[in-house]
Amino acid sequence: MRRQRLQIVLSVCTLLACLAGVDATLTAVAAESPLLADAKVLRRGKILWLQCTACHDLASPSPGMKDDATIGKIGPTLHGVIGRSAATVEGYRYSDALRNAGLTWDKPTLDRWIKEPAAVVPGTLMAFIGVPDEADRRALIAYLESATR
Ligand code: HEC
Repeated sequence: MRRQRLQIVLSVCTLLACLAGVDATLTAVAAESPLLADAKVLRRGKILWLQCTACHDLASPSPGMKDDATIGKIGPTLHGVIGRSAATVEGYRYSDALRNAGLTWDKPTLDRWIKEPAAVVPGTLMAFIGVPDEADRRALIAYLESATR
């Protein structure tokens, strides 16, 4: 009887140890796999991007396209926007304000712009209130970077 009880206690211990092991393994997998975290951020960025698609697309502004690069959209294509000088999509008529702002769309600048465009370039034609949440902006920028690499 006593031996049986001991056996039960032992097997419960084994089970607990096993569960703890699985848990530790899962934690290790999550920690070692930034790809999983990245995929989550990108998915969030892609959803947030939908609010930009009212005015932007990601079509490649190839030389032959000119005005076609912005087919039906109010804003310029954001193809390869990260790292590019502001107001340089050929054939798109930017505001004087953005053309004269002398900006380059590195990530910190893009972040400030997405947060509140009119605060970065007063007089811009981008009539968009901005994305207040920092994590949302980070996800958006990650998506833009991955979508038009
Ligand atoms: C209501 C329409 C509208 C929405 C919504 C909008 N934009 Fe814009 N965006 C514009 C316009 C118009 C311009 C050109 C601004 C100018 O010439 O002053 C622009 C310009 C830009 C530029 C500069 C591009 C360049 O070639 O220099 C970036 C970057 C940008 N938008 C990002 C975004 C992102 C990201 C979102 C979504 C979070 C967004 N925009 C939402 C209308 C919009």
